[in-house]
Amino acid sequence: MDTKPPSSPHVLIFPLPMQGHVNSMLKLTELLLTAGLHITFLISAKDHDRLFRYTTVHGHLNSYSGFRFHVIHGLYEGPVDTGDKLTILFDSLSKVTTPLLRNMLLDSPVACLIADGIMAFPLDAAKGTGVPVFFFRTVSACAFWAYFCIPDLVTSGDIPFQGTDMDKQIVNVKGMEGFLRQRDLPSFFRSDVNNVTLQQIANVTRRTQESHALILNTFDELEGPILSEIRKYCPNIYTIGPLHAHLKSTSSNNLFEEDKTCIGWLDQQSPKSVLYVSFGSITTLTREQLIEFWHGLVNSGKRFLWVIREDLLLNHGGDNKVPSEVKDVTRERGYIVGWVPQQEVLAHPAISAFLTHNGWNSTLESIVEGVPMVSWPFFADQQINSRFVEAVWKLGLDMKDTCDKTIIAKMIKEVMDVKIEDFTKSANRMAKLARECVSKGGSSYRNLDRLIKDIKEMSVRSTDIQVN
Ligand code: UDX
Repeated sequence: MDTKPPSSPHVLIFPLPMQGHVNSMLKLTELLLTAGLHITFLISAKDHDRLFRYTTVHGHLNSYSGFRFHVIHGLYEGPVDTGDKLTILFDSLSKVTTPLLRNMLLDSPVACLIADGIMAFPLDAAKGTGVPVFFFRTVSACAFWAYFCIPDLVTSGDIPFQGTDMDKQIVNVKGMEGFLRQRDLPSFFRSDVNNVTLQQIANVTRRTQESHALILNTFDELEGPILSEIRKYCPNIYTIGPLHAHLKSTSSNNLFEEDKTCIGWLDQQSPKSVLYVSFGSITTLTREQLIEFWHGLVNSGKRFLWVIREDLLLNHGGDNKVPSEVKDVTRERGYIVGWVPQQEVLAHPAISAFLTHNGWNSTLESIVEGVPMVSWPFFADQQINSRFVEAVWKLGLDMKDTCDKTIIAKMIKEVMDVKIEDFTKSANRMAKLARECVSKGGSSYRNLDRLIKDIKEMSVRSTDIQVN
C-alpha cells in the first residue's frame, strides 16, 4: 500500500483565556511553528479581538503557512480577579469547549493536544480519540508542586491553616522545608478546605499524571530540586523556559493597548535610576492601597514608571478613576501609563528594580533581564513565587501581606540602594544561567528539541495507524 509522505504534524494548542496564559502559549506556538509543525490555536472571541486590535500577532503568526486561530464563542468574558469568578470561567469553558475539542480531535488528524494544565476537561474530551494530551502549566514548578501537595497537606492537617500565625513553618512540602511558611502557600490555601477553586486546582493538578507529559515554562538551573520532587509522580517533564528568551523578537502578545511613550521617558533617565511598577493583567487594588503605594513610591525618593491598567482600581460605587493628585504630583518624578511593552522596559538601561506581583511571566522576564524585585503578590501562585524570589533565588525582597507606605519606601530603598550590589550580583548570575539554558546545548534548548522530535514521531505513528 502506498504510504502518504508524512505531512507536518498538526498540534492543537489551548490556553486558559487569560493574558498570562495566552502570552506564554503563543510563545510556545511560535517555537513549534519555526520547527515546521502545523498549529491550531484555540482562543476566546474576546482575546482574539483584543490581540487583533493591540498587537501584530495575527500577521506575525499567519506568516507561517501551518498556523490558524480557532475562535471559541459563547464563553464567560467577565473579570476573573477572584477564585469564585475563576470557577465561573472554568465551568463556562468546560460546557462550551468539551464537545468542540472532541469533534476537532476526531475530525482531523492531530498529532497531539497541548492544553493549559489548569483545565481538566481536555483530558476527558480526548478520551478514546487516541490523541495524546500534553499539559502545559503557565506557573512555576514551585507553584505546581504546592498545588500537587494539597491532598497531602489536608491529610497532615496543614490545610486548613492552624491558628493565626502566618509565619508557622510548613514542613510537608518536600523540597521546601526550612523556608516555607503558611503565608507563602498559594492564596487559595487560605480559604476553607472545601472551597471550590481549591478543590478544582488540587484535582486538576493531580490529574496531570493522566496526561502524556507535563511542559513547564521554567529551567532546570532555577527549580532543579522541586522538579526532582515532581518527577517522582510525573516522570515525563519538558522544562523549556524561559519561553520568551528562546525568541529573538519581543513581539508582544498583549491583550491591552501598549503606550510606547514610556520608552521616550526612560531614554531621558539616568542608568539604573528607575523603579518599574506593574501588577500584571488581573491584580486589582482598592483606592486606599493605590494611595499607599503612591505615597511609598514618592517617599522612596526614586523615579518610577507605574503601569495603572484601566481596570486596576476595584470598582466601588462607580469611581474607579485614578485620584487626580496621584497623576498631577507624580509628573516631575514618575510616569504613569495604562500598559507598556514590558520586556522592552525591563531590558532598558534606566531600569534598576521591578515592583511586581510576581506573576510567573513577569518573574521570568525580570530574571532574564537581571532586574532585582520588590514582590507584592496578589493571588494564586504569586505568594510562593515571591517567597522563592527572596528566600531561595535571593533576587529581591518579599513584601507580602502588607500595604504600608513606610514599608514600601523602605523596601524600595533597600533593593535600589542599601543591598543593590548583592541583588545585582545574584540577578546577573541567574540571568546568565537563563540565557545559557536557551542557547544551543543548554538544558531548555535540548528539552525543546526533544519535545519537537517526540511530537513528530507521534505524528508518524498516528499517520501509520490511519494508513494501515
Ligand atoms: C496570570 C496570573 O496572575 C499569574 O500569577 C500566573 O503566573 C500567570 O497567569 P498575570 O497576572 O497577567 O498572569 O501576570 P504575568 O504572568 O506576569 O503575565 C503578565 C504578562 O503581561 C507578562 O508577560 C508581561 O510582560 C505583560 N505585561 C504586563 C505587559 O506586556 N505590559 C504591562 O504593562 C504589564
